[in-house]
Amino acid sequence: MYAATLLLLSTLLLLATLPSALPAATSPPFQITHLQLHEVQNGNTTFAFTVHDPDPLTNATQRCTGKWTTGTSGYPQGSYETCGNSSFGWNMYAYTNCQNFVLGIEHSFTDPSVGEPPYDQILEFGKGKVTMLDLACTAQIGRVKCEQVWGGRIEAPIYAVVAKRR
Ligand SMILES: *[C@@H]1O[C@H](CO)[C@@H](O)[C@H](O)[C@H]1NC(C)=O
Ligand SMILES: *[C@@H]1O[C@H](CO)[C@@H](O)[C@H](O)[C@H]1NC(C)=O
Ligand SMILES: *[C@@H]1O[C@H](CO)[C@@H](O)[C@H](O)[C@H]1NC(C)=O
Repeated sequence: MYAATLLLLSTLLLLATLPSALPAATSPPFQITHLQLHEVQNGNTTFAFTVHDPDPLTNATQRCTGKWTTGTSGYPQGSYETCGNSSFGWNMYAYTNCQNFVLGIEHSFTDPSVGEPPYDQILEFGKGKVTMLDLACTAQIGRVKCEQVWGGRIEAPIYAVVAKRR
């Protein structure tokens, strides 16, 4: 809620300086596929997934990865970790365990309808819930390996949009 309030405030500030309204929350959700998580006891947890933004203005796809010491909350929280060299970022919006967490995704792209360059960028925020139903996990002594079930759909609906300078 705290983050949402901040976003709302920054949206209002930006709207005060921009003539046009931001696009309504009609953006299609981010699509998460090929999610993998490998937890090694007394070692690292490695994490990866592919995110796709189906908005026709961008239609972008990117692999995101993460690594943290198993059992710690060393994953990105609050701020976003950039996915590769891209305009996508991710964090753990909430984390209960390796089979129950909420992924936060941000993505910026050009939307000429919000303003003239360089004020023609928008930044969208989505969050997607991952549960044990989305994952197939195998456990061996000291390790757990989870993969998104084949053909499984994890969506991260857009919950906030802000305008952004290039
Ligand atoms: C865990 O990751 C860190 C940072 O990449 C690395 O230095 C360390 O060797 C890794 N630990 C194990 C047990 O693989
Ligand atoms: C999105 O990109 C994919 C892969 O590059 C392409 O096959 C598809 O036609 C694109 N869709 C749109 C709506 O541009
Ligand atoms: C990141 O993108 C920049 C600009 O497109 C490019 O010059 C650079 O080589 C890229 N770096 C990596 C690691 O892909």
